[in-house]
Amino acid sequence: MLKLRIPFNFIFSRQLHKEVRNKLKEKKSSKKLALDYFDFFYGSTFGKEWNPMRLALLTERKYTALVNNYSNFIETNSKLEKLGSINLLNFLEKYHEKNKHDVSNIHIPKNINIYTFDNGDTSQYPSPKQNSDNLMNYYCIDGASLLPIFAMNIQKDDLILDLCSSPGGKTLVMLQTLLPRNITCRDISQNRLERLVRMIKSYIPENEFKRLINIEMNLPILHKADEDRFDKVLVDVPCTNDRHSLHTDENNIFSKGRSEERASISKKQAELLTQGILSCKPNGTIIYSTCSLSPIQNEGVVNAVMNSFDGHSKFTLKIEPLDYLKDYFEYFLKFSSSCKTGLLVSPDIKKNFGPFYLCKISKLSK
Ligand SMILES: C[S@@+](CC[C@H](N)C(=O)[O-])C[C@H]1O[C@@H](n2cnc3c(N)ncnc32)[C@H](O)[C@@H]1O
Repeated sequence: MLKLRIPFNFIFSRQLHKEVRNKLKEKKSSKKLALDYFDFFYGSTFGKEWNPMRLALLTERKYTALVNNYSNFIETNSKLEKLGSINLLNFLEKYHEKNKHDVSNIHIPKNINIYTFDNGDTSQYPSPKQNSDNLMNYYCIDGASLLPIFAMNIQKDDLILDLCSSPGGKTLVMLQTLLPRNITCRDISQNRLERLVRMIKSYIPENEFKRLINIEMNLPILHKADEDRFDKVLVDVPCTNDRHSLHTDENNIFSKGRSEERASISKKQAELLTQGILSCKPNGTIIYSTCSLSPIQNEGVVNAVMNSFDGHSKFTLKIEPLDYLKDYFEYFLKFSSSCKTGLLVSPDIKKNFGPFYLCKISKLSK
């Protein structure tokens, strides 16, 4: 009988090879870790809704183009129309009129001017450019990220706090209403705040920047000096940033080194919302938002913070219904039916915006 003599080191190296291969298989990228986590967690949370959301999330997101009112907007509008995109708010006004919908309870700031491609059209806007006045022509922003500014119902001369403001997309939308007296922009990251300053200065003239923007750095999350200072507060918190986490390993909260940060994210979100509530004047408005589908980071944080203020001696908090916003924007945005407190825009292959969660809270004096 032929005896096969296999050298010991060959067996060893094959064994080693197998182990390394298995280890390599285990060493998942942050994107893959995020997908596994979402499949497990969102699969059970959203049931049948999850698979279409997953498909859309893994596909390129859609943007709207926010026209810069501080620059030559006539030139910009005509450029955006030539691309075949639609003036979103004009379209919706006509759409609701034609369908005889009662939209009397929606207040859209009249200066906001946004373009989008129609549902199912996956065209993308070219990168914004400077107009002849050296200011940028438009800003590309996820359509769902406009909702907090509509929910805020900004009034002329409002003092606004943008608590987690960088890189500044929503600050810029607020500015485009031409209504606020001043916006205080904060962020924990100095680098990111500097990026916000550069971005906003490329859209509005220097003197307007000085008049309208107040940059505050290096403040602890909870500090007393702020109490009852602002008419409107936006708390657009750091979150698992679901779409980003599925598309890039860079700055990904699912990377192995960031597991502790991930585990404590809802605690941080609750602290930021608490600070937002305290900073708001009595009878003012707070908007809490994330770009995550997670009910823990969304309704979970809102409910926990609302409970923590229960029985407060000076004010009560009320969650405001946002159905009117849902009804108005439903043509362009897909809303999840599983969200009961606030609104959740869920990605959809034909309307590929979001994810985005928002909740509006009124602070009522006792
Ligand atoms: C979702 S992003 C905000 C996006 C921004 N609102 C926009 O529309 O462009 C969250 C931001 O929160 C900031 N952040 C994290 N921890 C913070 C803290 N303790 N206080 C203030 N900002 C914080 C992050 O640096 C990040 O820029």
